[in-house]
This record gives sequence, C-alpha cells and structure tokens, in this order.
Amino acid sequence: MSFLQACLFDLDGVIVDTAKYHYLAWRRMANQLGFDLTVEENELLKGISRMESLEKILAIGGVKLDEATKLSLAAEKNSWYLELCQQMSPDDVLPGVREFVEELKTNQIRVGLGSASRNAVLILDRIAMLTYFETIVDGNRVTRGKPDPEIFLTGAADLDVLPASCVVFEDAMAGVQAAKAGGMKAVGVGDPVVLTEADVVIKGFEGLHVQDIKQLFVV
Ligand code: BG6
Ligand code: MG
Repeated sequence: MSFLQACLFDLDGVIVDTAKYHYLAWRRMANQLGFDLTVEENELLKGISRMESLEKILAIGGVKLDEATKLSLAAEKNSWYLELCQQMSPDDVLPGVREFVEELKTNQIRVGLGSASRNAVLILDRIAMLTYFETIVDGNRVTRGKPDPEIFLTGAADLDVLPASCVVFEDAMAGVQAAKAGGMKAVGVGDPVVLTEADVVIKGFEGLHVQDIKQLFVV
C-alpha cells in the first residue's frame, strides 16, 4: 500500500500565474503573423515546451516557416514573456501556495518542482521560492515533455520516492496525463471541465491541508 511521501509541483499556472503571460506573448506573436489565438486554443499549449507550443500555433494559423525563422520567433516570444515577468514579485505567488508547501515540510513530505519551462529557476528566484524545492526538474533537464512522464519520474527519482507515493499538482491537461502515465496521483488546479483526467480538481491552494491530500491514498 502506498502513502504520501512527496509532492511535485508544476510551476506556470500552479505556483504563479505566469500562464497568462505565456498566453499574452504567444497571442502577440500570432497577431504579428496575421491570426488570433483564442483562450481555448491556448489551453492546448499549457504544459508543453516552447517549440511544441510554436508548432501548434503555426498549425492553428496555417503558417509554414523554416527552422531558423521558428527559432527566432520562439526567442522573440521568450523575450516578450520575460519582459512581462519583470513585473513579478514574491507577492505574485498564488494564494495559499507558500503556506501549503510549508505545511508539507512540517509533515516531512518531500517537495519538488516539475516544469516544462526553461525559465523555471529565474521565475522561482523572482518570487523568492527557489529554496522551497529539494529538486527542480525543468525544461533544460529532460528530453521528453509532458504528457510523457519523464519530468515527474525524474523528480521522484531525485527525491528517492516511488511514483505511487507522489502527488502531482498541475493546471495543464498534458501535465495531468504525465502524472497519471508515471503512476502518480494527479491534483488538477483549475477547471474540472478541462482537467477531466485528474484524481481530484481544486480551485487553488487556499485552505488546502496535507490531510486533504492524504485522503487520495485512502482505498
Ligand atoms: C510550461 C507552460 O510550464 O512551460 C507552457 O505551461 C510553456 O505554456 C512551457 O510553453 C515552456 O516554457 P518556457 O518558459 O521554457 O518558454
Ligand atoms: Mg502549468
């Protein structure tokens, strides 16, 4: 029988609302290419890598480009994204997140980060949460993105815990699928209509306690 030993957190849209900045920057790029990007289309970009997102956006707009142009567009989007992130401070950590992670630590539950972003360390530093995570698995460390479980399995291995003892917190469909593919419990953060494959969906971390998460292991 497994029990809660570790929590792995996605970053964008779970710890901090950078998902809105990713959307603004991608939308600006789409607009520049002559088409729009809807909120629904953006949902499919959550959790996946920068280049995979670009490929999906180009497919939406029916735009074909060579590799060099794609790389330069991705770099431009990233510079717009980082410009938007400049305004972020420790106050931007989503409500209840800091308290919940602190409660996990008090209960000797291990804590890791599993994000597709290549900017994860920079963002965590900006919101003063770099020291909260015992391991950081980000887009610079893995070869296969979500929904492949590599990110979360690497996190579990770093923390020396079995996947079945891990709970993943995710706002993206691809991330929930990655957690489930890795044999972990998945807590969706956001809309239950979108995150249908999660074991449970929460609106956010305010008022959430370790005991609530332990319930996922009660059979
Ligand atoms: C994920 C986001 O966390 O990171 C995606 O949900 C984003 O929207 C991906 O594309 C890659 O992020 P970055 O910061 O490396 O461009
Ligand atoms: Mg996310």
